Formats: sequence, C-alpha cells, structure tokens
Amino acid sequence: MIASVLITSLLLALAYAKSCLNRTVSINVSARTGVFDITIPQTNLEATAFILNYTQQGRNFTDDVLTGYKTTRNTYQISTQLCFPTTKRFANPTIQILTHGIGWDKTYWDPSYNNFKYSYVNVATDLAGYYTLTYDRLGIGKSSHGDALNEIQSFLEVNALAELSMMLRNGTFPGISHAFSKIVHVGHSFGSVQSYALADKFSGISDGLVLTGFSTDFAYANYFIAGGNFVPAGPAPPSGSASSTSKPKYTAGYLEDSDVQAVDYQYFLPGYFDPGALQFAYDSRQPVTVGELLTFGSVPPVNSFKGPVLVLSGSNDLVFCGGNCLATGNANLSSILAAAQTSFPNVPPTKFETYIQ
Ligand SMILES: *[C@@H]1O[C@H](CO)[C@@H](O)[C@H](O)[C@H]1NC(C)=O
Ligand SMILES: *[C@@H]1O[C@H](CO)[C@@H](O)[C@H](O)[C@H]1NC(C)=O
Ligand SMILES: *[C@@H]1O[C@H](CO)[C@@H](O)[C@H](O)[C@H]1NC(C)=O
Ligand SMILES: *[C@@H]1O[C@H](CO)[C@@H](O)[C@H](O)[C@H]1NC(C)=O
Ligand SMILES: *[C@@H]1O[C@H](CO)[C@@H](O)[C@H](O)[C@H]1NC(C)=O
Ligand SMILES: *[C@@H]1O[C@H](CO)[C@@H](O)[C@H](O)[C@H]1NC(C)=O
Repeated sequence: MIASVLITSLLLALAYAKSCLNRTVSINVSARTGVFDITIPQTNLEATAFILNYTQQGRNFTDDVLTGYKTTRNTYQISTQLCFPTTKRFANPTIQILTHGIGWDKTYWDPSYNNFKYSYVNVATDLAGYYTLTYDRLGIGKSSHGDALNEIQSFLEVNALAELSMMLRNGTFPGISHAFSKIVHVGHSFGSVQSYALADKFSGISDGLVLTGFSTDFAYANYFIAGGNFVPAGPAPPSGSASSTSKPKYTAGYLEDSDVQAVDYQYFLPGYFDPGALQFAYDSRQPVTVGELLTFGSVPPVNSFKGPVLVLSGSNDLVFCGGNCLATGNANLSSILAAAQTSFPNVPPTKFETYIQ
C-alpha cells in the first residue's frame, strides 16, 4: 500500500520532470530600425496622450511620426532557458523556440504559479519529447534593455530571434553541443507576429510555425492598446512578490499595464480563469516599449514561408479577434484565423491548420 502510493507519487513527479539550462547568450544584432520623432512619454498623462494619438481613427500614427530609417547594430545579452525531456528522449530532437508576447517574459511559457500547473514547457518536454528554448525578448526582462523609442523595435527583436535560431541550427548555442536540424517557432501574440516576420525574412530558418494568440487581422489591436491603460513602468517590485526576481528597473518609454483590471481585460475571459493566475500575471507583468508599439503591425501581408503553419487562438481572443474569432461577417470564412491562409500562398492547404480553443 505504502509502496504503491510512493510509486504513484514518484511517477507523477517524473511525468513533469524536465532539465533546464539557464544561459545568458551574447549576440551581435543588426537591423534597419525606424526613426520616430515624438517626445518619449514620462508621466501617466503623457502616456495617455501617446495612446490617444496611437488609437485615433483616421490616422496612422506610426506613419505620421516616422522620419526615416537607420541601422542599429550592437552586441546584446539575451536571457534564455533551454529545457529538454528527462524521460522521453529522441535521437534527433526537434526544438521549439518560444517567443512571448507583450506584458510577459519567458516565464509566460513556464509560470511557477500553482506548482507549474499551466506550464507549456513541462508538457512540450517530458510529455511530448521536444526541446524548448524560452528567452526574454531583446529589450525585456533580464535581456539587454535599450532606447525605448528608436532601438527596441520589432525589427531588431526579429533579427535577435534569427541569431538565436542560427546558433541552435549550427551547434554554437552555449551549453548544448547539438546542431538542431528541425526548429519550430512558436509564438504568443506579439511573439507570433515576430515569428511570422522571421519566417518570411529568413528563408529556411524555420521548419514550422505555431502562431498562438494570433490572426492576420490587425483591425482590433487598438482594443488591446487602449485596454492596457498603459503607464510608465514603475520601479522594481518589492522582494518576495512573484516578479521580484525578474522585473528590473526600466527607463522612460517603457510602458506597463496600470492595474489588474487592465491585465484582465487584455488576456482573460470571464468565467474561464483561475483568479490567482490573473493576480500572478499582474504581479509578474513586463512592459512594452513605445518603439514596439509603433512597429507592432509592421509585417508583410504576404509571407514567403513554405512550411507547415498552425494558427491557434482562444475563441474570445481580444487583440486578434476583437473578442470573437467566429464573427467574420462572411459565411465562407469559418473564423478570423482561417483568413490567415491567404497570407501563406506557398503553404500547401494540407499544411495549414487553424484551431480555436
Ligand atoms: C533559471 O531560470 C528560471 C526562469 O527564469 C528561474 O525561475 C530559475 O530560478 C533559474 N534557475 C537557476 C538555477 O538560476
Ligand atoms: C560580436 O562582435 C564582436 C566585435 O566584432 C566580436 O568580438 C564577437 O565575437 C561577436 N560575437 C558573436 C557572438 O558573434
Ligand atoms: C499627439 O499628436 C499631436 C498632434 O499630432 C501632437 O501635437 C502631440 O505632440 C502628440 N503627443 C504625443 C504624446 O504623442
Ligand atoms: C502605418 O504606417 C507604417 C509606416 O509607414 C506602415 O508600415 C504600416 O503598414 C501602416 N499601417 C497601416 C494599417 O496602414
Ligand atoms: C553560427 O551562427 C551564429 C549566429 O548567426 C554565428 O554568429 C556563428 O558565426 C555561426 N557559427 C558557425 C560555426 O557557423
Ligand atoms: C461565398 O462563396 C460562394 C461560392 O463560392 C460565392 O458565390 C460567394 O460570393 C461567396 N461570398 C462571399 C461573401 O465571399
């Protein structure tokens, strides 16, 4: 009896055993970045003024304040965590590179809340046999920060993701001697936007795209932008809180959600979440730069990628479905996600899939 209880708990523990390596990786990144002429918001009121401009109908604020382009080139430190299965091992494993969205850092994929109950990484590694790489996007969390307007933009972050991908491909990623022949890029929200842009820009870099919290319809993004009630990112939180080990001090132009209600509005569906997880998400929130907001939607409408694509969103995704992925206004279109297929003319229909959770 005691033995069987012991064995059961041992098996349960093993089922979610994963091994991880934390590495800060140095990369050289070069990208064409936009030069924007605005005054960086310093106060709550200035942040609101910026968002009002950004969301004003009848204008493209990015275009209004764009004065040109420059090349940004620098050496950056990227905070990464590479995890692998301890029980389910394959000879030639596939690695998933997981890119988080706005408001989070790499722990989005592996939150410690409730003993890792909602960890994607746990399931992907020991239950499915994948390697995973999570990282704080360039500019965020424990990765290098930078100028929030004219440096930390989507373009630079996509090129940073390319560098990490190429290191895994050619076997130079620190701490792991393996050269991965199969790399799948998995994103959440803005992380999906960047994975999408990466696959278009760097031919052959990706063997598959999994775009979660995503569609190719940017018409609803302003619900999200306004709903964050963004304010300048505050000081590092007190020690002992969920984010005390991960949230550093940010400079001007880094904006974050003002309160729990803003996080609730942007990411959670009433009646379908654990309130403790909402509080945890708020406590561990990370900011977005004004440069990221100004380059958020700057992706090609048509993607050259040829590999398999899965687009997966919650039925009530706010950012990419305006709260209802099934309301398309077109009887021929089963969901807003399904419209993404036209952005992938080189992906055979059998290799394009959508899933609504
Ligand atoms: C590795 O990184 C994770 C995620 O950021 C963190 O929770 C953990 O404490 C780190 N482990 C070590 C040994 O530093
Ligand atoms: C980045 O560039 C510097 C200076 O050119 C060079 O010393 C360094 O090895 C490069 N780092 C990587 C990871 O390529
Ligand atoms: C908002 O736009 C107005 C008019 O274009 C401009 O005068 C103002 O400086 C902008 N404010 C911010 C914070 O972007
Ligand atoms: C807004 O302007 C930017 C910069 O010119 C451009 O990349 C973007 O596609 C425009 N957005 C829309 C919705 O037209
Ligand atoms: C591997 O890829 C990285 C990132 O692009 C690059 O800096 C490095 O020179 C490459 N190394 C080899 C041996 O190809
Ligand atoms: C839906 O498909 C039918 C048959 O192909 C076509 O006649 C109709 O115009 C389509 N409707 C819309 C709104 O695209």
